[in-house]
Amino acid sequence: MLARDYDLVVFGATGFTGRLVADYIVQRRQPIRFAIAGRNRAKLDKTAAALGGVDVLVADALDAAQVAEVARRTRVVCTTAGPYAKYGSELVAACAAGGTHYCDLTGEVPWMRKMIDQHHAQAEATGARIVHTCGFDSIPSDLGTWCLQQECIARFGRPAAQVTALYTELSGAMSGGTAASAIEIATQAAADRETRRVLRNPYGLDPDPAAPRPPSPDVRSVSWDARAKRWTFPFFMADVNTRVVRRSHALAGQPWGASFVYEEKMASRSLPAAVGVTGALGAFAAAMGNTHLRPLVARLLPKPGEGPSKEARDRGRWKLRLYASVGADALTYVAADHADPGYGSTAKMLGESALCLAQDTLTSPGGVLTPSVAMGSHLAERLRSAGLTLSPD
Ligand SMILES: NC(=O)c1ccc[n+]([C@@H]2O[C@H](COP(=O)([O-])OP(=O)(O)OC[C@H]3O[C@@H](n4cnc5c(N)ncnc54)[C@H](OP(=O)(O)O)[C@@H]3O)[C@@H](O)[C@H]2O)c1
Repeated sequence: MLARDYDLVVFGATGFTGRLVADYIVQRRQPIRFAIAGRNRAKLDKTAAALGGVDVLVADALDAAQVAEVARRTRVVCTTAGPYAKYGSELVAACAAGGTHYCDLTGEVPWMRKMIDQHHAQAEATGARIVHTCGFDSIPSDLGTWCLQQECIARFGRPAAQVTALYTELSGAMSGGTAASAIEIATQAAADRETRRVLRNPYGLDPDPAAPRPPSPDVRSVSWDARAKRWTFPFFMADVNTRVVRRSHALAGQPWGASFVYEEKMASRSLPAAVGVTGALGAFAAAMGNTHLRPLVARLLPKPGEGPSKEARDRGRWKLRLYASVGADALTYVAADHADPGYGSTAKMLGESALCLAQDTLTSPGGVLTPSVAMGSHLAERLRSAGLTLSPD
């Protein structure tokens, strides 16, 4: 590892999120050997200059030899080149084979399933920590649940058998890469029965997705939550986040018990808002699943490279409240930030994940891991220092 040229390379740094992440890392002024990578030399040079002058590596994500060279030259790769099912597989393969730590922003469950099946065993052998979902999906859910359970164990002597996570505030916008990733998943799901099977399985990212587990149906309707005193309804990223939390629990050897259940929803005091959003999400999912309507929806969404302005990003915010009961005791934990979830907060979360993999003395093994399993308390501390709330209510 010490013989490598760089500590950290941001791959896809010319894209909308990649530029934000690279800028975040440069602004942190850490003593690391840093470079950016991508396919287009002219765009990379411009980005490198805007970052104040950093090294540039040129590699096409679809060229196995070129990405293997990037993975060979650095200790950590942080990639924002998505949709990941389209552009991500060679880089994961190269990192797993070369013992290079890796983090990304994917929320593409079928692709993650593929990466687990193809590379987990090899990454375990080489010691490469391959960490998907290091952005808004799924760090608040995954690290929030882990922190909450640590707090339950410290206060009550045991973890909670059930955690309910409610997004009580959410304001943000979408970039072209995220839109492209959503379209990519919908296109695959429409064409492929196996993709639909993975997406439907609440334990679709578990090491053994067919192992017996407690029922955890995805939330599809509106209901009243007496504890939160709010109406709850489906959260559009829950089908990713719930799978990641469950994978964390399974990878850690089920420390919260074989019957542990995690659910995640949106929450509002307004019943009309809850019903309206539930209806809109259903209509969006139906349109994305329809071969004729999908291209029409795609036309309305931002294009690759586009995303919310700085002003819009600065107006964003989010708050996740995680509820647990242990016997007669109850504990609520909050994960929150005053920044756009998908870009402001995500740049912070992915940037700190990359720095954590590059700088911290982690004890996790290699493998296709989750943020909490790979980085746990190290990442939690970093995010708190970066301004995220991650604490008991
Ligand atoms: N989890 C979260 O919270 C979260 C938040 C934000 C984004 N995301 C995900 O992050 C990904 C990126 O989103 P974005 O909006 O930043 O996308 P974007 O602006 O379209 O950027 C995509 C990047 O990938 C690069 N790329 C594309 N094809 C390539 C290839 N063959 N070889 C090398 N590089 C290639 C592009 O390079 P060029 O500049 O040369 O085209 C660009 O740098 C998406 O998958 C999105 O879903 C997740």
